[in-house]
Amino acid sequence: SIADSYPDPIPIAVIGGTGLQSLPGFTPVASLKPTTPWGAPSSPITVLHHTSGDGRPIPVAFLSRHGLHHEIAPHEVPARANIAALRSLGVRTIIAFSAVGSLQEAIKPRDFVIPDQIIDRTKGIRPFTFFEGGMVGHVGFADPFDEGVAKVVRKCGHSLEGDGVRLHDKGTVVCMEGPQFSTRAESNMYRAWGGSVINMSALPEAKLAKEAEIAYQMICMSTDYDCWHVSEGDVTVEMVMGNMKANSENARRFVGAVLDELSKDEHKDLVAAKHLEGQMKFAGSIT
Ligand code: ADE
Repeated sequence: SIADSYPDPIPIAVIGGTGLQSLPGFTPVASLKPTTPWGAPSSPITVLHHTSGDGRPIPVAFLSRHGLHHEIAPHEVPARANIAALRSLGVRTIIAFSAVGSLQEAIKPRDFVIPDQIIDRTKGIRPFTFFEGGMVGHVGFADPFDEGVAKVVRKCGHSLEGDGVRLHDKGTVVCMEGPQFSTRAESNMYRAWGGSVINMSALPEAKLAKEAEIAYQMICMSTDYDCWHVSEGDVTVEMVMGNMKANSENARRFVGAVLDELSKDEHKDLVAAKHLEGQMKFAGSIT
């Protein structure tokens, strides 16, 4: 059986989304069940050992956003517990996966998108901040993702292009409340707004990571054309799951390449999120 504790800080985490509930190919060395003031995370956190290029074992924390058996709907994800639990293990960089609908012809099903912007279409009913109840804080959110981590992720994605990975370097993800999909009018409105892709999971995760001074980057994988496309069928769960499953090998190779690269010594400060340290110091006050 596998350990229920891990002795060292774990700087890197992967949050798996729909269709990426585990990370085969890595050696699980511990299964952790941290508790937080915001409750328990979506799933036990698996510590995986990844062997770096020079043979060192690199620990990676893996969390399944929708639970081990996809039993947690997007609006029910305990995002504060997830981010707080990861932070308590020493996580400073998160690679977050998400299945998305495409709002652009050029983003085909099974294409990957490394988004740089978010439009918030959640309804304010998900707990979305650590700053409340006497602790006031305002963190900058102009750039919701981490550009330094994004650069590494893009480079890794492009290195796999010969093997059938298609990648878009930028994009705006519309994060809707769900769990119902959008109406056709909404889908067309999001296109007019300049949305590239749509999901139900970028928020509040990205906001909470920012508040926790964690470098956060999402990797989106397109699974459908939502419902705006005149000649493609409207999105269904079968479509999302089917494309996710068909492309899961690419997703795994993509994460593997990103972890290989991030575990290099040259990215040590980036992974430790040195550039975010102390960011919240003047952003709030405890009353
Ligand atoms: N996730 C995958 N496809 C989606 C869509 N069309 N809308 C919202 N979330 C999605």
